[in-house]
Amino acid sequence: MSKQFDVVVIGGGPGGYIAAIRAAQLGFQVACIDEWKNAAGGPAPGGTCTNVGCIPSKALLQSSEHFEHANHHFAEHGITATDVKMDVTKMIARKDTVVKQNNDGILYLFKKNKVTFFHGRGSFAGKAEGGYTLNVAGKTEESITAKQVIIATGSNARALPGTPFDEVNVLSNDGALRVGAVPKKLALIGSGVIGLEMGSVWRRLGAEVTILEGLPTFLGAVDEQIAKEAKKAFDKQGLKIELGVKVGEIVNDKNGVTVNYTNAKGEAVVLDADKLIVSIGRVPNTIGLNTEAVGLQLDERGAIVVDADCKTNLPGVWAVGDVVRGPMLAHKAEEEGVAVAERIAGQHGHVNFNTIPWVIYTSPEIAWVGRTEQQLKADGVAYKAGSFPFLANGRARALGDTTGMVKMLADATTDEILGVHIVGPSASELIAEAVVAMEFRASSEDIARICHAHPSLSEATKEAALAVDKRTLNF
Ligand code: FAD
Ligand code: NAI
Repeated sequence: MSKQFDVVVIGGGPGGYIAAIRAAQLGFQVACIDEWKNAAGGPAPGGTCTNVGCIPSKALLQSSEHFEHANHHFAEHGITATDVKMDVTKMIARKDTVVKQNNDGILYLFKKNKVTFFHGRGSFAGKAEGGYTLNVAGKTEESITAKQVIIATGSNARALPGTPFDEVNVLSNDGALRVGAVPKKLALIGSGVIGLEMGSVWRRLGAEVTILEGLPTFLGAVDEQIAKEAKKAFDKQGLKIELGVKVGEIVNDKNGVTVNYTNAKGEAVVLDADKLIVSIGRVPNTIGLNTEAVGLQLDERGAIVVDADCKTNLPGVWAVGDVVRGPMLAHKAEEEGVAVAERIAGQHGHVNFNTIPWVIYTSPEIAWVGRTEQQLKADGVAYKAGSFPFLANGRARALGDTTGMVKMLADATTDEILGVHIVGPSASELIAEAVVAMEFRASSEDIARICHAHPSLSEATKEAALAVDKRTLNF
């Protein structure tokens, strides 16, 4: 006799585990199936984000930033730090501990919210009366039935054709987060979010890093002025980014990797590296779901086709997160998970795609919400722009980190904020104010008139708002 649930969530990443908790809060009998295994073979819910994504990458960014500060910035504060060394094994072990704390936290939350957790692979067996039958293949095989199914199976790293990941020399995000020693020479393909974050970690620790990017523009999705400022900072740090390259043959022998490519000038270049990280985007994951058993519709990229409410072509089957359209971000997955649980309960779940923030956790951090200046031009929207450099912000000077700016874009007629773009210290935190402002459809004048604590980095946001009306006070 199979176990019966109101809602079964397949996938325990940020989309899935949050959907399961919200559905349980709403009074449903809920199960969540996740197959991720820790080193001991036990459950490790949290998905890509917790295990090989957001959390471990931020742990390594933190460790490597401390190392960089100790080496290069302590002296200006009068602190002598000699013989600073990095124990990579310890750094990776700390990262693993942080990951485990998050895995354990999710298991605790499942217990607290009475979500039944299944460790194994979930797949469709077929339709059942009033729902679906699912198989769970873990240490044992189980059959469960669900009235409603939420698929949150995430994504996998895209490999370059002909160059599979071996996670020894050719690394995906997984291998990139557990390199055992600082590579002397590190090559990366793709100067997107992972390329910049992982490139920064290993550069700070002493690797000679070259990032090869196919597009001629740097961070094309980012506001041009912000991307230019960020590129200047990365160049200064010695992060070598080559744009407009065409990657050719890649030879992976046990001594390392050779990348043959044509540079933007059309010259043939041979790049030897100890390790290669391939960070050229991710592909939606439906492997092993047995979607054919129920006729679930996928698009040409392999993503599950959903409407604006995350409904699939099958009644009672929903999909959220990286496995569907839209930005591949943990907080987007979470918002969709909550909205779907609420829709199942007959409520009006809501995700505002216009106010999803993006953050790149490099130094300087890059964060934005809403439209860029180039998008507004392309959309033919009349706008006003104001920016304020951290150089003129007292807190940034006290921190010793004055790179970058806050830039605000507002409608020329209504003054509604249309986009906020930040490059600089704590951009990841500062962007939250802009998200709130845009969600409440604030004008730049609203932000300009709000009292911001002094001295704080957030004053740069207020000043950028004042700059929209050409009346900055401190610049
Ligand atoms: P996932 O997190 O991928 O979770 C899917 C889960 O489903 C996995 O545990 C998988 O094992 C499981 N699963 C799949 N199929 C089955 C099955 N058939 N049965 C059972 N279980 C199954 N986003 C941010 O917002 N901020 C960041 O800082 C950030 N940093 C990142 C850094 C890196 C290096 C990477 C790779 C990604 C990063 N992301 C970040 C993106 C973020 O990780 C994803 O957007 C997010 O994890 C998507 O959540 P999800 O729930 O859709 O899928
Ligand atoms: P990405 O889409 O951010 O960047 C991929 C880059 O590779 C692009 O610039 C693209 O032009 C380039 N590229 C693609 N094919 C190429 C080729 N053959 N040769 C050279 N360059 C090529 O993808 P990335 O960095 O792999 O990250 C995947 C996703 O994970 C991100 O888009 C994001 O959604 C998520 N992520 C989010 C983070 C965050 O929020 N801080 C951190 C890391 C990942």
